[in-house]
Amino acid sequence: MLTLGHSLVFLTFLTGLYAYTWPSNIDYLEGVMYQQAGYRRFGVIDGVSPCSFSSDGEGRQAAAEWVRTAFHDMITHNAAEGTGGMDASIMFEMDRPENPGSAFNATMGFMTNFYNIQTSMADLFALAVYTAVRTCGGPRIAMRGGRIDATGAGLAGVPEPTDDLDTIAAQFATAGFNTTEMIQMVACGHTLGGVHGVDFPDITGNDSSTNFVHFDSTFSSFDSAIVTDYLDGTTENPLVVGPEGSNSDLLVFGADGNATMQSISDAHTFSNTCQTILQRMIEVVPSSVTLSEIIDPIPIKPVAIQMTFDSSRTLMFTGEIRVLISNRDDTDLTVQLHYADHDGNVPSNNTISTSVISYSTGYGYDAEFRFYAFSAPVPNGISSFNISVIPSSGGEEMYDNGRSGYPIQDNIVFLRDHSCLVQEADANGNWNLTAVAAVRNDASLTNPSFDVVVKTQRIGILVPSLAVESSGMEVWNSDAYDGFTLYTGHHSLPIYSWSTTFDVTVGEYSDSFKSSGGLPGTCS
Ligand code: HEM
Ligand SMILES: *[C@@H]1O[C@H](CO)[C@@H](O)[C@H](O)[C@H]1NC(C)=O
Ligand SMILES: *[C@@H]1O[C@H](CO)[C@@H](O)[C@H](O)[C@H]1NC(C)=O
Ligand SMILES: *[C@@H]1O[C@H](CO)[C@@H](O)[C@H](O)[C@H]1NC(C)=O
Ligand SMILES: *[C@@H]1O[C@H](CO)[C@@H](O)[C@H](O)[C@H]1NC(C)=O
Ligand SMILES: *[C@@H]1O[C@H](CO)[C@@H](O)[C@H](O)[C@H]1NC(C)=O
Ligand SMILES: *[C@@H]1O[C@H](CO)[C@@H](O)[C@H](O)[C@H]1NC(C)=O
Ligand SMILES: *[C@@H]1O[C@H](CO)[C@@H](O)[C@H](O)[C@H]1NC(C)=O
Repeated sequence: MLTLGHSLVFLTFLTGLYAYTWPSNIDYLEGVMYQQAGYRRFGVIDGVSPCSFSSDGEGRQAAAEWVRTAFHDMITHNAAEGTGGMDASIMFEMDRPENPGSAFNATMGFMTNFYNIQTSMADLFALAVYTAVRTCGGPRIAMRGGRIDATGAGLAGVPEPTDDLDTIAAQFATAGFNTTEMIQMVACGHTLGGVHGVDFPDITGNDSSTNFVHFDSTFSSFDSAIVTDYLDGTTENPLVVGPEGSNSDLLVFGADGNATMQSISDAHTFSNTCQTILQRMIEVVPSSVTLSEIIDPIPIKPVAIQMTFDSSRTLMFTGEIRVLISNRDDTDLTVQLHYADHDGNVPSNNTISTSVISYSTGYGYDAEFRFYAFSAPVPNGISSFNISVIPSSGGEEMYDNGRSGYPIQDNIVFLRDHSCLVQEADANGNWNLTAVAAVRNDASLTNPSFDVVVKTQRIGILVPSLAVESSGMEVWNSDAYDGFTLYTGHHSLPIYSWSTTFDVTVGEYSDSFKSSGGLPGTCS
């Protein structure tokens, strides 16, 4: 297992070439991918670390299950028609004989913790491949975002171990992969995990719930043993040496007279080949989907940004700047913000200083960050800011978000302290979610709305549906804060959906993606 944070690979992107601007719809995904541990951790690795781990106990391996889930979702793609692929349609396909076992539900169940209005289950499947492969010592799979979840089942066609080679190769070809690529992809997948007796008793010859026959001698290491065991004749891979008629790996690996297997037997070549073929695997999407650029760690990223009012009723701008430090020699940094007020004017002192949060290292396999907090009065509001980073060794770096500055709206401000989630079931068995927002008076903005993402459980489908339900907000108080009117909105929230996100919106302005988690249980 890799030690997080200590064996960081240096990053190769150039800040100036990176087209990302904040905010972006890949912000959450980027955080989940690179903030695996430490401060502000999302903790996706908890599901798969170490590589042999499963929260479901003996005879299971979550890392292998995550990779298998992505494959089964992807392989029903029809390249010519532009349908299927990584679209999480597998959530509707659980009753098909081609999708046996607990792996898919287990993967979806874990990923549901990170599933939200910004992040599709299909993107989380891709993230699962990245995280599992990396945890098992494999290469860094490049990751894009923007996959869209299917709303129903797609075509069938996942290869089964009893299929003949023509059938298997034809399905890979339909999905856009030739024989060489098929062999590579199967080898890269079957370096992890194995066959479960409970699902394939005829193959393992043992139907015990803990019977788990590994594909190679190092099932918890993403390495070329799947190839070398096969070539040197020592393999115990049940899909190679198992009963005749169900040894698809034997057919696949030998499909070109072992040429591809021989070409990827070297550890380094295997890793590089898998890096390429698994990236291609997770980028198979319906033709209606446009994936984002590759998600590299964002060098400078505002996080937890929130306007608020302090106890003396002054408008405040609060948040943190997350700074990538794994690409820096000098990590003794001064981080400042320079802002323009609500009307775009620059106040005489427009510098906001930050202070590094103690113990605020956050990290993943491929990035390490430090977080700089700020909380500053902005009585005339704020419309945008730039960020300067000054290393102690000298030089000032200015980050202007692709020249436009980091945009901030201060027309509607969600007020967490006044909001609440009352955890008492009403007549419908729902809880009562109350949001309070301050709306700027001088902008002639009326009729704010409270837009709640409601999660609904679906029979036979592990992943909930997400639907935005909007309702109006009413004037609550006009003189609490100078220049603002307070509005309140209520939502009768199904208990199942207690952990969700919501926006408060007025006109074209939104204070968005607020979490229901951590809200006070009583309203003030
Ligand atoms: C010819 C195509 C394939 C066939 C017929 C096939 C068949 C199988 C079978 C029968 C299992 C045992 C499942 C269980 O007992 O839980 C399995 C496991 C697995 N497959 Fe494949 N597979 C194919 C291709 C792939 C590909 C391309 C990948 C990924 C790149 C992949 C990844 C995995 C993984 C990681 C496991 C282990 C799951 C676990 O340990 O729970 N497979 N495969
Ligand atoms: C599959 O495609 C790759 C890349 O285009 C090519 O190098 C390889 O020779 C092809 N394999 C077969 C069997 O056509
Ligand atoms: C079946 O598999 C289980 C779990 O691996 C093992 O404990 C048991 O001994 C096996 N039974 C036979 C008959 O091999
Ligand atoms: C491929 O390798 C396997 C395992 O070593 C061997 O049994 C088989 O004969 C080889 N096939 C060819 C065509 O060389
Ligand atoms: C941020 O930088 C841009 C250009 O790089 C500049 O036009 C803008 O005025 C700056 N904003 C502030 C608030 O300093
Ligand atoms: C400007 O404000 C910042 C913090 O808000 C403060 O640290 C700094 O000393 C001020 N600069 C001047 C010249 O007043
Ligand atoms: C997967 O979860 C769904 C929803 O809970 C359930 O109906 C289905 O039976 C599960 N399938 C398996 C194979 O566990
Ligand atoms: C939610 O609570 C508020 C008081 O905080 C109340 O006015 C409102 O009627 C409640 N809504 C529902 C749906 O119970």
